[in-house]
Amino acid sequence: MTEIIDGKALAQKIQTNLADKVKQMKERYGIVPGLVVILVGDNPASQVYVRNKERSASKAGFKSETVRLSDATSEEELIAIIEKYNQDSSIHGILVQLPLPSHINDKRILLAIDPKKDVDGFHPVNTGHLWNGRPQMVPCTPAGIMEILRAYQVDLEGKHAVIIGRSNIVGKPMAQLLLDKNATVTLTHSRTKNLSEITKSADVLIVAIGQGNFVTKELVKDGAVVIDVGMNRDKNGKLIGDVKFDEVAEAASLITPVPGGVGPMTITMLLEQTYQAALRSVTK
Ligand code: GUN
Repeated sequence: MTEIIDGKALAQKIQTNLADKVKQMKERYGIVPGLVVILVGDNPASQVYVRNKERSASKAGFKSETVRLSDATSEEELIAIIEKYNQDSSIHGILVQLPLPSHINDKRILLAIDPKKDVDGFHPVNTGHLWNGRPQMVPCTPAGIMEILRAYQVDLEGKHAVIIGRSNIVGKPMAQLLLDKNATVTLTHSRTKNLSEITKSADVLIVAIGQGNFVTKELVKDGAVVIDVGMNRDKNGKLIGDVKFDEVAEAASLITPVPGGVGPMTITMLLEQTYQAALRSVTK
């Protein structure tokens, strides 16, 4: 029997619980978690993400700010804004939405964020903590996937976890988090030879390649757990994942749909990490 993962319900449950924790934080410490999202330019997908983040943060009782800047914003101007929020004690999380316009060096921007407020987990200090097996701020999509695997009681110990896609945002941090749970991890990518031989042996298959319907049933072992990070549009504009859902669902024991799988968990982890950063600001 295939079980379809309900990422939306899990996200709602965690966010409701978080809203309670925020109320308690306000009573106990007199603060609420503060999140600022900075968006440069008018990339339509980014605008949707940012609006969703804003809405979820407000709903959970956070202080939520969004800074919308024109495409013409310079690197120096953006860094000055980040530095202002680094100093602002009512803000515990700073997120600069990617991608940035091409004239801005994103590495330099990510380095400007105070690692303690880096709720995306992209600063090299946080990447280092993650690689040392002591994660602090973790990229939100892999963190959300780990929550899904935990909630659905997927046993990772000694299992073969295969990741397709080696991005800094998903693939690489995902590998480390799975290693921390004693999975045997194979990180594959667009140049991997004999991909299907590798994926066919996966107990857990995580797909973040960014190509609609890339994973067909020929790539999946019977009974595998399949997690689809993809967000693509088909030729009719419909949102589809990287996994050909209907046929792969027949083979998988557990599978995420798109939409309603990983996506809602990403924002949830962003809020959770902002809450944790706020808590550390008063308890450390
Ligand atoms: N663009 C796509 N995914 C992400 C993400 O997780 N964080 C940020 N900052 N930008 C993104």
